[in-house]
Amino acid sequence: MSVIENSKLTVVGAGSVGASVAYAALIRGSARHVALYDIAAQKVDAEVLDLAHGTQFTGSSDIIGGSDISVAAGSHVVVITAGAKQKPGQTRIELAGVNAGILRSMMPQLLEVAPDAIYVIVTNPCDVLTVLAREATNLPPERIFSSGTVLDTSRLRWKLAQRAGVATSNVHAYIVGEHGDTEFALWSRATIGTVPILEWESPGHPRMSAEELDRIAVDVRDAAYKVIEGKGATNYAIGLASARIVEAVLRDEHTVLPVSTVLDDFHGLDGVALSVPSIVSASGAVPIRETAFSEDEMALLQKSGDALRTVAESLRE
Ligand code: 2OP
Repeated sequence: MSVIENSKLTVVGAGSVGASVAYAALIRGSARHVALYDIAAQKVDAEVLDLAHGTQFTGSSDIIGGSDISVAAGSHVVVITAGAKQKPGQTRIELAGVNAGILRSMMPQLLEVAPDAIYVIVTNPCDVLTVLAREATNLPPERIFSSGTVLDTSRLRWKLAQRAGVATSNVHAYIVGEHGDTEFALWSRATIGTVPILEWESPGHPRMSAEELDRIAVDVRDAAYKVIEGKGATNYAIGLASARIVEAVLRDEHTVLPVSTVLDDFHGLDGVALSVPSIVSASGAVPIRETAFSEDEMALLQKSGDALRTVAESLRE
């Protein structure tokens, strides 16, 4: 596989998340062609016009869209954001029933027009929906995965970078597990440069304690609640995170990202979608089996898996 020429991204759902994914993808030049699809014709047409009006200034210049599924035809990547969003105080899991129905009805139509695409599920609860969408489509797990904890990992790196006084790109730390309330930081493997996180110090930036790291992980876990409380939704950061995932696919990057795939004997976990560091390329996403977990982290991963398995079971038809 190599870089996809004339690449096409379709974003499904023209709400604040979908529009932000399209906006981020246009600005970053993530794909040669960007399409936006939604059943709400007036809304999607307006978003497409607004985006198109800015294309003199963007990295890619081609945006189309509308309420006819044919706009997704021939896509290399489809990012799905359609569905209900969290109300203040509501958990992602509480959206499962309604969003599972939306996804199940939409997947066959999408597959018909974009049979070869890689599918990235952003709609929440993204891990549970990934399991259901994989079952409904029978696509191999590498071709239908979720943005998972890519966003949470970015939130974590931002906080650690500020605390440690280094660039975000030099923080090597991951949030794994559910994109939601049972997620956790893989502290045993976290480094700044090559320095284990607990040993890092620099002028004006004293060492962090395990307790402080745990508080940071809790802040990251609860970050979306805070944003939703203040503005009703999160959209910009997930837009950027999704555009980054799209680039890793379309440029066949083999980049390590904590996306969520349906696991197959990953440290004994099966049939549940969880985020773990994975290689993302033109073939899709493949979990890195060699990722090591401490005993406590393994227990947390199992707990995340058990929680999500129960929700997925309750939604099986
Ligand atoms: C987020 O974490 C709500 O899942 C969304 O921003």
